[in-house]
Amino acid sequence: MAIDGLTMRFGERTVSQDIDLTIGAGEVLSIVGPSGCGKTTLLRAVAGLIPPAEGEVRIDGQTTAGTPDGVAMVFQHFGLFPWKTVEANVAYALRVRGVAKKEAQERARELITLVGLSGFEKSYPHQLSGGMQQRTGLARALAVRPRLLLMDEPFGALDAQTREVLQFELLRIWQDHPVTMLFVTHSIDEAVLFGDRIAVLNGRPSGVAELIDVTLPHPRDRSVLAAPEFLAIRERVWSLIMNADARP
Ligand SMILES: Nc1ncnc2c1ncn2[C@@H]1O[C@H](COP(=O)(O)OP(=O)(O)OP(=O)(O)O)[C@@H](O)[C@H]1O
Ligand SMILES: [Mg+2]
Repeated sequence: MAIDGLTMRFGERTVSQDIDLTIGAGEVLSIVGPSGCGKTTLLRAVAGLIPPAEGEVRIDGQTTAGTPDGVAMVFQHFGLFPWKTVEANVAYALRVRGVAKKEAQERARELITLVGLSGFEKSYPHQLSGGMQQRTGLARALAVRPRLLLMDEPFGALDAQTREVLQFELLRIWQDHPVTMLFVTHSIDEAVLFGDRIAVLNGRPSGVAELIDVTLPHPRDRSVLAAPEFLAIRERVWSLIMNADARP
C-alpha cells in the first residue's frame, strides 16, 4: 500500500498535509501522534471512507475509491451491531461479501474460537465486557482474511489489564496469521511491540515527523518490553510526540 502526498481537509481546516507512507506485504506500520492529529482520518482515507483533498492511496497499485477489496478495519469504539449476536456480527462481514450463510457461520465460529470467545456465540454486545466486544470486532475484521488490516486504537477503550492481555493475544494471533497492518495507537509501548516501523505524526496540520525502524526480531513476547532497544525506541518516539516542532 502507498499513501502518496495525502492531504486531508474538513471544510477550511487542513488536518494533515502531504503525507507519504508505504507499507510492504506482511509489514506492520504503527502510527502514533497527539490526539486530534488526524490518525483516524488517515485510516478512513485508506479505507476509502472519505476522499482525500489532495494525493492518493494505492493498494496493489490501484487507487482506492469506495471501500477497497480486502481491507478491514477495527474501530476505536468497537463498532458492533448491538442488535446482532457475536456470531452474527462476525458472519455479517462475510455475508456482505457474498459468502453463503452456512459457510459464513462456520468461518465465524472458527474466528470466535481464535479470539477466545467460544461459548459466547449467541451473546449480544451489551452482554459482553469491553474486552470481549473488542475481541468480537477483531474476529469480524479477521474473518474476511484481509490483505490490509486497519487498527484504530483497538485497545484504547479498555482498562489497562484487559488491554495488556489482549495486546499479547493479538501479537500471538498475528504471529500465527501475519497480515499487513496499519496500527494506530496512543500507547507507545504498543507501537513498538507491534511495529516493524513507526510513523510519528505531529504538527498542525500534521505530517510525518519521523519514520522509525523497529529492528526487534519476531516473534516478540513480553520479554521485549525490557530490551534496551525497546526502551531506546520508546524514548525516541516519546520525545518526538512531546516536541510539537518536530514536524519537518
Ligand atoms: N467528520 C469530520 N468533520 C469535521 N472535522 C472532523 C471530522 N472528523 C475529524 N475531524 C477533525 O479532524 C481532526 C482529526 O481528527 P481524528 O479523529 O482523525 O484525530 P485522531 O488523531 O484520530 O485523534 P484521537 O487520537 O483522539 O483519536 C480533529 O480536529 C477533528 O475535529
Ligand atoms: Mg482517532
